[in-house]
Amino acid sequence: MTISPELRHAALAATGFMPEAEGDALHEAALLAAQTCPRLPFVEIGSYCGRSTLWLGDAARRAGTVLFAVDHHRGSEENQEGWEWHDATLVDPDIGRMDTLPRFRRTVYDAGLEHVVIAVVGQSPIVSLHWSMQIGFLFIDGGHGVEPARLDYLGWTPHVASGGLLAIHDVFTDPADGGQAPHDEIYRPAIDSGLFEPISACGSLRILRRI
Ligand SMILES: C[S@@+](CC[C@H](N)C(=O)[O-])C[C@H]1O[C@@H](n2cnc3c(N)ncnc32)[C@H](O)[C@@H]1O
Repeated sequence: MTISPELRHAALAATGFMPEAEGDALHEAALLAAQTCPRLPFVEIGSYCGRSTLWLGDAARRAGTVLFAVDHHRGSEENQEGWEWHDATLVDPDIGRMDTLPRFRRTVYDAGLEHVVIAVVGQSPIVSLHWSMQIGFLFIDGGHGVEPARLDYLGWTPHVASGGLLAIHDVFTDPADGGQAPHDEIYRPAIDSGLFEPISACGSLRILRRI
């Protein structure tokens, strides 16, 4: 089962960084996780303007669960002014800081997914500290620096239920292809912990199963 044609169109038109093939792989993995962990919620770390959120929101709707979309909406380091991935249209002129929440809300609203996608606006490590629910599907695409990636691994992966899945974006084995933090601080430690096994890959997306 793939994302509906209307939502695919919306996802591809949304501002963001999720390539189509990886979005499809994310959607497929989330539905797979829902078979093993029925009704357990999905969690996304790093929603930005809601592009990956639409693939996951569609999967959550089909699975009869919800997606908690966690982001402080102030952008990652590489989204700030002067960096490669800065988008000046996402700056709140009154405070001079990034604010992706209005664009995110509009993306989710236009897609008709407000009943499925629950925005959690805050610092990921603080939210994870207060989180107690088991998670059926966890997607980590937040801060790509060493410390944010390490904190996302430590804070969120213990909540993935047995049989649930962990998806990690921007995992590059070769430093020439991209930053190493998602690989070194999330992907590798998850496997080395003996608690997760790799089950599939698409582009820079890696899917692991919680044993
Ligand atoms: C790479 S973007 C996510 C891209 C998105 N998944 C997509 O499909 O376009 C990373 C996002 O993580 C958020 N982020 C980075 N560090 C964070 C943190 N410590 N807590 C919450 N959100 C964070 C940023 O605000 C940014 O929106």
